[in-house]
Amino acid sequence: MASLSLTQIRGSNSVTEFTRLRLKTQRGRGKTGFLKVVGSQGQNQGEPDLSVTVNGLHMPNPFVIGSGPPGTNYTVMKRAFDEGWGAVIAKTVSLDAAKVINVTPRYARLRAGANGSAKGQIIGWENIELISDRPLETMLKEFKQLKEEYPDRILIASIMEEYNKAAWEELIDRVEQTGIDALEINFSCPHGMPERKMGAAVGQDCALLEEVCGWINAKATVPVWAKMTPNITDITQPARVSLKSGCEGVAAINTIMSVMGINLKTLRPEPCVEGFVLAEK
Ligand SMILES: Cc1cc2nc3c(=O)[nH]c(=O)nc-3n(C[C@H](O)[C@H](O)[C@H](O)COP(=O)(O)O)c2cc1C
Repeated sequence: MASLSLTQIRGSNSVTEFTRLRLKTQRGRGKTGFLKVVGSQGQNQGEPDLSVTVNGLHMPNPFVIGSGPPGTNYTVMKRAFDEGWGAVIAKTVSLDAAKVINVTPRYARLRAGANGSAKGQIIGWENIELISDRPLETMLKEFKQLKEEYPDRILIASIMEEYNKAAWEELIDRVEQTGIDALEINFSCPHGMPERKMGAAVGQDCALLEEVCGWINAKATVPVWAKMTPNITDITQPARVSLKSGCEGVAAINTIMSVMGINLKTLRPEPCVEGFVLAEK
């Protein structure tokens, strides 16, 4: 999984080596910064230099682990840094992990062959995994430890909260104290508790998005990327709203919703989590 950040570009008449953009990094919120859009000479002769600087975040390469299972805990994020990934976006956290009930099974398998034959090779997965169900304190301790051990690597916290300004402010404050480099805002999770106005419930509603982005950007002191849901007619609308409301970038995209299959015995969509088992088991 990789995450692509589309950076806000202002006042550039032509594609030039440097694009001016506003930064709000810890090193100087609200100052004008630069996005370097061409590669530079490698440090070791003969070796390509893939390093990039995005919103003031310097990465050894532009390959970024998207928020999800590879950002679940310290061990997997450390592994990603050790394997050379340019940046890691941790699994999304919220203030009260106890409200997050992840279910089993949370994956459906798509198999090659006619009518989803149980024998076909697995060619795809659909997931209904929610955000992190690990206690926030645990995740924060691990972010801090990672930043202490890998001060030169980019760690981005993904956050999601309810429609509550104070809750967003508290979460941003606590997460920033760990030393993370940037925030990705999860406005995109398709199964992310819409009844609590979380995830895609915000990302699909431009008025709500503008208000919540306003709260977030008034509080945050590190660059903010808004993660988009693709499950909307025109993704450019929430993207523009996010950028106009102070976000430095947008991350595209979260899960494309789908129906992976129907269990013809129970007529339930898969994966089914109400006590039924998958048909091929
Ligand atoms: C099991 C699983 C868990 C995920 N959890 C999160 C999450 O916590 N926060 C988030 O913003 N995106 C989450 N995602 C979405 C991914 O970051 C990514 O946006 C999505 O899978 C689309 O990219 P892909 O086509 O490369 O898989 C998750 C995806 C999967 C498959």
